[in-house]
Amino acid sequence: MMRSWMILAWFGLAVSLGCNSTAGGGAGSGSDTENGAGMGDADDQASLDGGDAGAGGADADCAELTYENFAQDFFSSYCARCHSSELSGADRNGAPVGRDWDQLEVIRQFPDSIRNRTFEQANMPTSAPFPSDEERQQLADWIDCGAP
Ligand code: HEC
Repeated sequence: MMRSWMILAWFGLAVSLGCNSTAGGGAGSGSDTENGAGMGDADDQASLDGGDAGAGGADADCAELTYENFAQDFFSSYCARCHSSELSGADRNGAPVGRDWDQLEVIRQFPDSIRNRTFEQANMPTSAPFPSDEERQQLADWIDCGAP
């Protein structure tokens, strides 16, 4: 008999708890609103972090211009008819001995001078054919990239 009373008592308790939890639903949604505000703060920080990404496109040109795909043709088209290791005497048209731009290791010894005369002063070559302004800019970029 004692057991039956216990079961009935627990059953009654369960029903009344069920009613209480239904009635308390409104209070529960109040705390959901506070949680929502906390999530909003986290989102703001995430978007600030994302704002730092996106820089770093400045090095793109250095991968594009190389001796093989650009500078070798540039020097052979516009400079080597005077500045060449294969020319001597009057055939150099006055180009100083040893300033041979058909050789990459020589070019790399005089990058500032070459950049200055080809881009800033733009007084090389001394006669036609002349490189375009864009080609002069590309040569300066190539030197700025370390003459790769
Ligand atoms: C028609 C011949 C000729 C051509 C082509 C020519 N140069 Fe010259 N270059 C000279 C002469 C002459 C000098 C020496 C007189 C002077 O410095 O202005 C010289 C001097 C230079 C000097 C100075 C060298 C030094 O150390 O004193 C540089 C740098 C130079 N040239 C770069 C170039 C470049 C780069 C090209 C091609 C874009 C080029 N030159 C094309 C004739 C030429």
